[in-house]
Amino acid sequence: MKFFIDTADISEIRDLAAAGLLDGVTTNPSLVAKAGRPIADVIKEICQAIEGPVSAEVTATDFDGMIAEGKRLAGIAANVAVKVPSTWDGFRACRALSQLGHKVNVTLCFSANQALLAAKAGATFISPFVGRLDDLGLEGMEVIREIRTIYDNDKSFKTQILASSIRSPLHVKQAAMAGADIATIPPAVLRNLAKHPLTDKGLASFLADWSKTGQTIL
Ligand code: E4P
Repeated sequence: MKFFIDTADISEIRDLAAAGLLDGVTTNPSLVAKAGRPIADVIKEICQAIEGPVSAEVTATDFDGMIAEGKRLAGIAANVAVKVPSTWDGFRACRALSQLGHKVNVTLCFSANQALLAAKAGATFISPFVGRLDDLGLEGMEVIREIRTIYDNDKSFKTQILASSIRSPLHVKQAAMAGADIATIPPAVLRNLAKHPLTDKGLASFLADWSKTGQTIL
């Protein structure tokens, strides 16, 4: 499973990219708003920092507006994936932008049927929002499992499942087990994947024993 990072914070992106742990980046209008700079500048900078796909979302809600904004966003860099919402106009825009050769990420997906439409429309990525479904008392990960089955049943579908709205290390593990192709992960959650108290405890005791020997390796 690939790792994307779900942020528009360029310093976080650079830091995690330098660690060799990033395959791509996702942003959304809320994350770009938080960055407090023009979207074109933010996306351009991220695209220069990372080779993989960088999702940038349209804010128009009608077909023509999405196409115009999608073209503008795709023109920022070759690795931009245009994000469109899981609405009727969004699926139409997905089809049109994909046919123009752009990568398209269909976002705000909450059902397997929306994912089915996205695949029919030639989406590069489908983004089911696991955490927001869990927030409603539903099982977000079940939607990932359903989409995996549907996509595996039709070999003509090339759309990659991008598990989104990831809130915890448990979500990351479950998404990998459910067959997601990618998880887009907030920076803090990504760093937490490395943590285990027994690792810290074991390391402390190894180092305490080692210091008693007076040896050095170098
Ligand atoms: C996905 O591309 C979205 O940016 C993101 O995962 C939304 O997550 P949230 O529900 O934590 O806002």
